[in-house]
Amino acid sequence: MSNSEILAVDAGIRLCDVDGFVAGEMRRFHPEGMDAIVVCNLDGEFYAVDDDCTHAIASLSEGRFEDGLVICPVHGGSFDVKTGEAMKRPCRKPLRTWPVSIINDAVWINASER
Ligand code: FES
Repeated sequence: MSNSEILAVDAGIRLCDVDGFVAGEMRRFHPEGMDAIVVCNLDGEFYAVDDDCTHAIASLSEGRFEDGLVICPVHGGSFDVKTGEAMKRPCRKPLRTWPVSIINDAVWINASER
């Protein structure tokens, strides 16, 4: 998904269509004015967290998404996508989470607190 397809309305940012975003998939987005985020489809429910690992320098979107956890590609730490909680060391600090809504068959995040 290119950034040109991202639509922002008030605090809501439309990221992509739900169609084709399958369960078990994660995607990276970089809305203007924000750090990159990762959106995950966990059994039909969508969750968004920051893309930057809190341990060191790594893009979590280059890792794996398994059983509700985003797993860092660098040292293997992991985070719960629902809560952002660090689940495996060396990660300790939680990830920031973003509220996700499905509106008109599209995935939106609420970025009012960015
Ligand atoms: S950079 Fe992610 S676990 Fe170390």
